[in-house]
Amino acid sequence: MNPLHSHTPTLPHSLDHARELDRQDPLARFRDEFVIDDPDLIYLDGNSLGRLPRRTAARLHEVIDHEWGKRLIRGWGEGWFTAPGRIGGKIARLIGAGADEVIVTDSTSVNVFKLVMAALAARPDRRKVVTDDLNFPSDMYLLQGAVRLAGPDYRLEVVRSEDGLIVSDEALAAAIDGDTALVALTHTAFKSGYVYDMAAITAMAHRAGALMLWDLCHSVGAMPLALNEAHVDLAVGCTYKYLNGGPGAPAFLYVRRDLQETLFSPIWGWFGQKRQFDMKLDYEPGPGLQRFLAGTPTLLSLAAVEPGVDLLLEAGIDRLRAKSVLQTEYLISLWEALLAPLGVTLNSPRDPSRRGSHVSLGHAEGLRIDRALIEEMNLIPDFRYPDNIRLGIAPLYTTFADIHEAVRRIRKVIVERLYEKYPVERPDVT
Ligand SMILES: Cc1ncc(COP(=O)(O)O)c(C=O)c1O
Repeated sequence: MNPLHSHTPTLPHSLDHARELDRQDPLARFRDEFVIDDPDLIYLDGNSLGRLPRRTAARLHEVIDHEWGKRLIRGWGEGWFTAPGRIGGKIARLIGAGADEVIVTDSTSVNVFKLVMAALAARPDRRKVVTDDLNFPSDMYLLQGAVRLAGPDYRLEVVRSEDGLIVSDEALAAAIDGDTALVALTHTAFKSGYVYDMAAITAMAHRAGALMLWDLCHSVGAMPLALNEAHVDLAVGCTYKYLNGGPGAPAFLYVRRDLQETLFSPIWGWFGQKRQFDMKLDYEPGPGLQRFLAGTPTLLSLAAVEPGVDLLLEAGIDRLRAKSVLQTEYLISLWEALLAPLGVTLNSPRDPSRRGSHVSLGHAEGLRIDRALIEEMNLIPDFRYPDNIRLGIAPLYTTFADIHEAVRRIRKVIVERLYEKYPVERPDVT
């Protein structure tokens, strides 16, 4: 039997088996594309900040030494000016969108704001925004702020999850009504990794006459997405997680082609202005997605996004998803055999079709276990309140041996109670 397909609870739990799975991995060569400074470090936080691709380091040298250093301001006419659309066009291929429907600009948070305000203005007779409590905090704050800014009649309805892992389609359906202007959700929930049925929920929003906004931060680069097929109106996503664009890399936004001329950014900047170098003093929005740009692109960070996206396109998003599913299944089988008996819970869905590329494990001492793993075990996961140890699988570079060894180190921290020496207070960054 091909061990790549034997992801059942009877899976052997030896390191040899993990190595055999790595030998059979058709994407194994992509790990060499990344800077791996410490081979003993197990990095399971690519769902927060992806590793540095070697090509990115080379590309940034080129941008700094040649383009900025020698070409100076001429760089704007030699590829910088068109970079937001060009790189957006490549991301479009990962998310099932047209090349002219995605642009790279600003942060995810700022893009959420722009699209929410645009959506409210496009549904002037409606007063409600629907989201749920699995949404990312920044999105929640932005929705609260947008509703406040829109006026006293506006309100945000937050659908509650019963178990903290998922929100049922029925609960969402009950909240979406004829007064709903916008439904805004994060496609892969940042704690549990729960993945929504994009097409079904988008259709639900449309039946009520509402627009649909998806936050794709934890989905893009981790799984194939089909925005056009699902008739998604609006989307945002970041580039520093599975796209490996680097800390603070600019985000992307998507607006479906037929909506582009009817939506307006609330931030009127000169990069969104029609024929901006005419330097006219009255604002006139540019065509297509250009109007959702605001100011000068952060060119160095923007340039760092492209090589990571190219790597994903080369590996193929379907193959990456297939490996990610095998790896999260493998991790869950190890959890079941080795960690569940120690009281560690699975805080992610069991069904791989409803799970993203990270697995959350729960333990009352999760915060201190996370700390001990980082400080003593050379293992980097991350921690999300109240008890989630998040283990992110980035199939471009995570190995099966990494996963095997990670579970062994977690087990050691728990069995030997190595976490007990750390304070219970939360540090500023987790
Ligand atoms: C799902 C989700 N949405 C939004 C954000 C905020 O992104 P940014 O800080 O780039 O605005 C994050 C950040 O991790 C996220 O995970």
